[in-house]
Amino acid sequence: MRILVIGGGGREHALVWKLKMSSRVDQIYCIPGNPGIAELAECVSLDMSDNEKLAQFALAQQIDLTVVGPEMPLTNGVVDCFKKYNLKIFGPSQAAAQLEGSKEFAKKLMRKYRVPTGDFVVFTEYEAARQYVLSHEAPLVIKADGLAAGKGVVVAMSREEALTALEDMMCSQVFGSAGNKVVIEEFLSGEEASLLVFTDGYTAVPMVAAQDHKRALDGDMGPNTGGMGTYAPAPVITPAIKDQVMKEIVQPVVDGMRTEGCTYCGCLYAGLMITADGPKVIEFNARFGDPETQVVLPLLKSDLAVVMEACVDQKLDTVAVEWEDQAAVCVVLAAGGYPGSYDKGAVIEGLAEAKDAGATVFHAGTAFNAEGSIVTNGGRVLGVTVAAIDLSAAIEKVYDAVKCIHFTGMQYRKDIAHRALNR
Ligand code: AMP
Ligand code: GLY
Repeated sequence: MRILVIGGGGREHALVWKLKMSSRVDQIYCIPGNPGIAELAECVSLDMSDNEKLAQFALAQQIDLTVVGPEMPLTNGVVDCFKKYNLKIFGPSQAAAQLEGSKEFAKKLMRKYRVPTGDFVVFTEYEAARQYVLSHEAPLVIKADGLAAGKGVVVAMSREEALTALEDMMCSQVFGSAGNKVVIEEFLSGEEASLLVFTDGYTAVPMVAAQDHKRALDGDMGPNTGGMGTYAPAPVITPAIKDQVMKEIVQPVVDGMRTEGCTYCGCLYAGLMITADGPKVIEFNARFGDPETQVVLPLLKSDLAVVMEACVDQKLDTVAVEWEDQAAVCVVLAAGGYPGSYDKGAVIEGLAEAKDAGATVFHAGTAFNAEGSIVTNGGRVLGVTVAAIDLSAAIEKVYDAVKCIHFTGMQYRKDIAHRALNR
């Protein structure tokens, strides 16, 4: 098989890394890729938002299967475009990707199909939203309807905070048009976890549950980030809760999407709050999580290319999806200052040593400088990952590997996966 992966972060590095292990895969291309991916695949510089160019590339290279990493090409309709040319592509159509692209769409679908989630109201007018906040008790959760690069959510612990968030989104338009519509949602308390599933639009098969660490600093302090580290499996998702999530959340959504005429194929990411009343949906993503993918795929025993092709061919019920009885931990090494402003171009040392220490180092924000050295090129720079016999072994080994790596300004959390140990 000839594979094309679209994207260039840590998630895409993990996808390419796993696909490379498939006995069915002969060649992998990645658009645009990164220096880590370049060790496994041919990286091609093309505009990820130009569907027609991507499809022409896939036709010219006789690509058998394309895998989409980020949400942007999905909500931009890349899957619909590829299908027009009879190209196989793993990911939801533009209509189905609304599950991530529009919070209102996702919430209304959940309401219609009785999927447990926080109560909500949608506003398009600032004054009405303001009145709602003034007449309700904090905490309240304020969400910009559209895509806002993971930053369009404010968990307001006071009314003032909620009002500021509304003003920022609806009046100052800090998220652009994504804030023209705002969802105000009930605050859910509990422990968060992510369950990613493979689906062909009919059958859904769960992956191992993962837990992200969204805050920048140890002890879940500091500002929200894209994710500072992950581990899997997450023990908060017990086998019983996993069954419940599949039965009460995932299957009704997959069936509901089909009923609505937007059959969902690809990876569906359920962001969950495990509340005292059971699991409830915080959000859906129409793609693999980053950095969840970096811990989930190392635990997949089955051939990822076979599973993905079965999703695209609507034959997921005919393949076995098996998992290693192990645990994986990914520690994100970030640039100093992230998630605020940060420098780029710092030389990264110790990558080979970290590999020798038993880690897989997924590149997220790296580049080659003029001298050919690998340098920092983003906020989240690397995802150092280890799979081991259990969580404590993985934690020990991953932090030994982290110690091998150095770049100016490097910051990381020292408590990834500790919550699971403290249970
Ligand atoms: P999202 O971008 O939807 O994942 O939201 C970002 C973060 O905000 C989530 O990871 C949660 O920690 C928090 N959050 C979102 N919705 C809620 C909610 N209804 N109740 C409590 N926390 C929430
Ligand atoms: N790690 C959270 C996300 O991928 O959205």
